[in-house]
Amino acid sequence: MKPLNLLEYEPLARAKLSAMVYEYYAGGANDEVSLRDNRASFERWRLWPRVLRAVAERDLRADVLGERWAAPIAVAPMALQRMAHPEGELAVARACAALGLPYVVSTMATCTIEEIAEAAPEGLRWFQLYAFKDRAINRDLVRRAEEAGYRALVLTVDTPLLGRREGALRTDFHIPDGLREANLRPYEQGQLADMREQGMAGQFWRTFLREDNLSWDDVEWLQANTRLPLVLKGILRPDDAVRAAEQGVAAVMVSNHGGRQLDSVPSSLDALPRIAEAVRGRTTLLMDGGIRRGTDVLKALALGARAVAVGRPVLWGLAVDGQQGVEDVLRLLLDEFDLAMALSGCHNLAEITRDLVERV
Ligand SMILES: Cc1cc2nc3c(=O)[nH]c(=O)nc-3n(C[C@H](O)[C@H](O)[C@H](O)COP(=O)(O)O)c2cc1C
Repeated sequence: MKPLNLLEYEPLARAKLSAMVYEYYAGGANDEVSLRDNRASFERWRLWPRVLRAVAERDLRADVLGERWAAPIAVAPMALQRMAHPEGELAVARACAALGLPYVVSTMATCTIEEIAEAAPEGLRWFQLYAFKDRAINRDLVRRAEEAGYRALVLTVDTPLLGRREGALRTDFHIPDGLREANLRPYEQGQLADMREQGMAGQFWRTFLREDNLSWDDVEWLQANTRLPLVLKGILRPDDAVRAAEQGVAAVMVSNHGGRQLDSVPSSLDALPRIAEAVRGRTTLLMDGGIRRGTDVLKALALGARAVAVGRPVLWGLAVDGQQGVEDVLRLLLDEFDLAMALSGCHNLAEITRDLVERV
């Protein structure tokens, strides 16, 4: 029997993946307090449904950064998707396109920016950037994303260094033979190539990525060097979100990186209402972290998100059944969200208001 919900995909995927790949995908940092809280926090909010509202016709479509999505749900950027299935990012891109949902492609994808665009030309894609010290590489990655028709640039700002994920350490994580971060190939010369050959991920990160020195100046630099709207991903504090809004950032993705960076930070859902209150509509808010149920999407929207992104369940669907598995996962989430809208008396996203939820 097919899984009945997103949560049921995880054990099925686990049975198909090596312990190393499963741990890399599933794990969080240190004690995984924030990882668990991403889920637990959804149970701390209750819904107050409206009744007798003739909800037979419902419109799930979302307008985000000038684009129309089939629903307020994107696929979050996640590295190394070919470890889950030989088609990797291509399968995810096709599944998203089939459902009219956007796909955020990671810098650390195992297919190139261009291959992913070609796999589903009709799909809506954003590109997630990890910034390199060498600005010529950043400029080139941005140019490639622009030329391949990506619609927004997502700068991840919560990863100055990689968090300490003990599951990955315990299983001696390395990129399996034959796979690599495909986007970086044109820039692999000299020392960078040597390090890639030797699979030294941590050292590679520190040596070539600018991440540990990333600052608001880089945000400005990116804004000046792209015509795409800029999204900052990984903000938890209201003051950082306000600064992003004041600097003209198109959207902020409230996120704790799926609990994989600093452990003991609040869940994304707990950070969201504070940020919404501080930002007061001056920038678009997105969130990810722990979205598994249609009611989770409803709660996040009620607390101020324009849309959400879903991470690990997409990898589980991909591992279980490739493109079809990803479509099944996204379809389940869409159907659950549609049901939650009907049962709470909402015809469209504008009716998902703050008074629909209360913290218990
Ligand atoms: C295996 C894995 C790889 C990830 N790789 C990236 C990445 O390359 N860039 C990035 O910005 N976020 C990355 N993330 C974080 C996700 O974009 C997202 O914030 C998080 O997974 C959402 O939480 P969820 O998995 O609970 O839905 C990764 C997450 C996972 C699980």
